[in-house]
Amino acid sequence: MAAMISPSPAKPAGTPAAPPCTFVIFGASGDLTGRLLTPALYHLQREGLLDAGFEILGVDRVENNDEGFRKTLGEALHTLGADAERGIDEAAWGQLAANIHYLTGDFADPSTYQGLAAHLDQRQRATGASNAVFYLAVAPRFFAPIAAALSTAGLLDESDTAFRRLIVEKPFGTDLASAQDLNAKLLAVATEKQIYRIDHYLGKETVQNIMAFRFGNGMFEPIWNRDHIECVQITAAETVGVERRGRFYDGTGALRDMVPNHLFQLLSMVAMEAPNSFDADAVRTEKAKVVEAVRDLTPEDAAKVVVRGQYDAGTVLGKPRAAYRQEPDVAPDSRTETFVAMKLAIDNWRWSGVPFYLRTGKSLAVRRTEIAIQFKKAPAVLFRDAVNAPMPNLLVISIQPDEGISLRFAAKVPGREMRLGQVEMDFRYAEHFKAEPQTGYETLIYDCLTGDPTLFQRADNIEAGWFEVQQIQRLWGGLTTPPDLYPAGSDGPACADELLARDGYAWLPLT
Ligand code: BG6
Repeated sequence: MAAMISPSPAKPAGTPAAPPCTFVIFGASGDLTGRLLTPALYHLQREGLLDAGFEILGVDRVENNDEGFRKTLGEALHTLGADAERGIDEAAWGQLAANIHYLTGDFADPSTYQGLAAHLDQRQRATGASNAVFYLAVAPRFFAPIAAALSTAGLLDESDTAFRRLIVEKPFGTDLASAQDLNAKLLAVATEKQIYRIDHYLGKETVQNIMAFRFGNGMFEPIWNRDHIECVQITAAETVGVERRGRFYDGTGALRDMVPNHLFQLLSMVAMEAPNSFDADAVRTEKAKVVEAVRDLTPEDAAKVVVRGQYDAGTVLGKPRAAYRQEPDVAPDSRTETFVAMKLAIDNWRWSGVPFYLRTGKSLAVRRTEIAIQFKKAPAVLFRDAVNAPMPNLLVISIQPDEGISLRFAAKVPGREMRLGQVEMDFRYAEHFKAEPQTGYETLIYDCLTGDPTLFQRADNIEAGWFEVQQIQRLWGGLTTPPDLYPAGSDGPACADELLARDGYAWLPLT
């Protein structure tokens, strides 16, 4: 589709820099820090969104020092991801690197927190700044103990001039009970306003754009309901296998890894009512209402509307891929699912009777996250004598990697006879906005620094997600049969296709 409006900058001019802050990363030597947090912080620095008083303090048990840590992060930035390919703005990196520090310390050792307190005190004396964000980029078993130790050391105490915030990575619990337990432990030492629970899907521009698309346009919302929409498909397909995460993934599986968090975020965005404002609680309340309205499944329902698969050997993007059970750190008789698909109902006025189909899996044919809204067909009366009948209109919101929105509709194929063809109007983010590559963490970090929790999950959002999948977890816990196998590099197991075929639908093909 030809762009009719001139391109806008990726970030509106005049966005103020975030307040000065010490950004403490627990798990500083981990993968997340190098691969995602460092590029995100560098992008913020490059865009002028970090104050001169911003500093990074890495904390980890791995022996290191300021210089060594700067070097590690610099190497990650210069060798991994899109920035390495496009080239680094060395001036921006240099400014950020000058403010990188490191503290060697065990998370379980009280002296680590004394060292941290001493660093923050010294910083305050030198610059007057006392704000701190504690980013828990660590294994989940450390979340509650680190928060408790920070509290014991007085590091979560806020004042009128200083904020103290905790960012908690996923996975937030492994089921409803463990999520409730973790929430209780965190809320015992910090207020809800201090806790920022990350779901990185919410940092993606295209996910946020769902709200702009739905509520910033007059033409879609009137038809965004059961009167006009036939069904909704949400797909998060990945080509990656479990890679080096076998130990984590084999105890987790596709359901827990992707559904109550990422897929439910997409579901909420697409199905929520318009909030009264963009105020954090107004948005989060509307999103929570969607998840609450998901019809509770009994284990019997779950057996009918939820299917699972596990990848077998195959070829992904032209390269051979071993079967899941052959992957490192995966049990050779593992029954962990690497694919899950389900049909959900949302029991509210807007969506009654509209099926929502969700699927996600690893080692599939393509990497693609998208939401497809299938509209009801036009009556075929006028086309009785036509060569073919109209197909349903389809609106596809592509979250990644090819971010955009396309609308499929019928058009007459030129010629003497009335033949209908399918055509597409296509909007691509990259073409229109010429945006620089982002990891999604930029927005989330900036929002935390500026105290905006809209894109973070409240305790009740997290628990509602786990509540909805707990019957599936129970059902699967009692199964002795393995998941259906699908060849790596395919569209997933046949049972996923059957799930939709029973209702007369089909997934959008991945290839
Ligand atoms: C993570 C999951 O939360 O999200 C991973 O633990 C998954 O298993 C990843 O690969 C997907 O994120 P993205 O941004 O690549 O879609």
